[in-house]
Amino acid sequence: MRLGVPRETYPGERRVALIPAAIEPLHKLGLEVSLEAGAGHQAGYPDQAYRDVGVEIVEDRSALFAADLIVQVRSAGANREGFQADAARMREGQVVIGMADPLGEAAAIDDLAKQGVTLFSLELIPRITRAQSMDVLSSMATVAGYHAVLLAATKLPKMFPMLMTAAGTLAAAKVFVIGGGVAGLQAIATARRLGGIVSAYDVRPAVREQVESLGAKFVEMELETDAAEGQGGYAKAMGEEFYTKQRELMAEIVAQSDVVVSTAAIPGKPSPLLITADAVRGMAAGSIIIDLAAERGGNCELSEADAEVVEGGVTILGPTNLPSQVPYHASQMYAKNITNFLQHLISDGELQLDMGDEITRDTMAAHGGEVTSGRLRELLGLPPLEVPSADSESVASDSGPADAS
Ligand code: NAI
Repeated sequence: MRLGVPRETYPGERRVALIPAAIEPLHKLGLEVSLEAGAGHQAGYPDQAYRDVGVEIVEDRSALFAADLIVQVRSAGANREGFQADAARMREGQVVIGMADPLGEAAAIDDLAKQGVTLFSLELIPRITRAQSMDVLSSMATVAGYHAVLLAATKLPKMFPMLMTAAGTLAAAKVFVIGGGVAGLQAIATARRLGGIVSAYDVRPAVREQVESLGAKFVEMELETDAAEGQGGYAKAMGEEFYTKQRELMAEIVAQSDVVVSTAAIPGKPSPLLITADAVRGMAAGSIIIDLAAERGGNCELSEADAEVVEGGVTILGPTNLPSQVPYHASQMYAKNITNFLQHLISDGELQLDMGDEITRDTMAAHGGEVTSGRLRELLGLPPLEVPSADSESVASDSGPADAS
């Protein structure tokens, strides 16, 4: 089998799906690898580094798409416009693996399914222990949480650490992190390393211990959060009454913060609105909000995706592709996740589509001309697929919970 790695075409995307260090394990699986010329260049991986490990460098993109398997960072719905031309290059029976924004752009997956392409959408990888090493969302959220704090630090007209100097004492910056998932915990750790005084809040009570273990303060709020944790350790959407109270309680902490990094997310749902315009106006001029949830509507009422909004001297940033700002390591992590996923899917040099396996079944978005993910079928208004018996070759409908977004 031949595996092709095209150059990413989404505007501003600098990551690459596979790095040279990831090639050897793929050869061991029996795969030949081709890379579109220059695909790793912006991430810091030149063509020669791939040639050195036996990768064929291909100049012509259409020729690259002749491969049996295509791996990408952004596929289908995650690169709606750029993907049009590639879709025309794809054929029935071809396998595509990448982030495809299935829950945000379900129609794009439907289009690809109709072409007979088999799509594995990596956002759908279940957050279970066995799949942790394949979880691209966690990898990318780690990078985003880290970079969000650096972005805030460069924008803030203050330094992060407390400094006692001959010119007087400088107070440490106060950082408030909303949501203690993967991105939030990495933001906390990074802000602590820079010397900030960090506090954090999450609706899932289990997060308190992790926040405290990073040396941050877990903020107490009089909110009923016993039912806040859903399946797979993700948060559940709460009622509007809950969010109204949370916004009120948080406004005070937000007002006292120099930096707010918001990462609150509910899988497959718009981000909860947690910081109102009034709360922003309560902050001191010069303060910074980094809203990592901007792509799904944002945690802050004023944030705009990929724009800088200034309100009363407070700067609100809603960057949607921070992993691309750290493309070398983001690509390294992504490539490792992809390699682990391929090792899961391929044995004896053949792709094994074991629909009895939770990872394979949940991650598969399209196969055999159909959208196969139960969650996506629901979004598209399609009837559930027949659930086959365990030894059947056909594709099961994953009626499981809401995957990741
Ligand atoms: P996650 O699901 O691990 O964490 C989200 C956390 O938010 C959970 O711990 C959840 O309990 C918490 N949460 C939900 N509702 C809340 C509420 N009302 N108050 C406080 N906490 C609440 O997600 P992950 O992977 O950490 O990603 C976080 C966000 O960052 C997501 O929106 C994701 O799409 C985004 N992201 C953004 C990137 C960018 O470049 N902007 C890159 C990667 C992720």
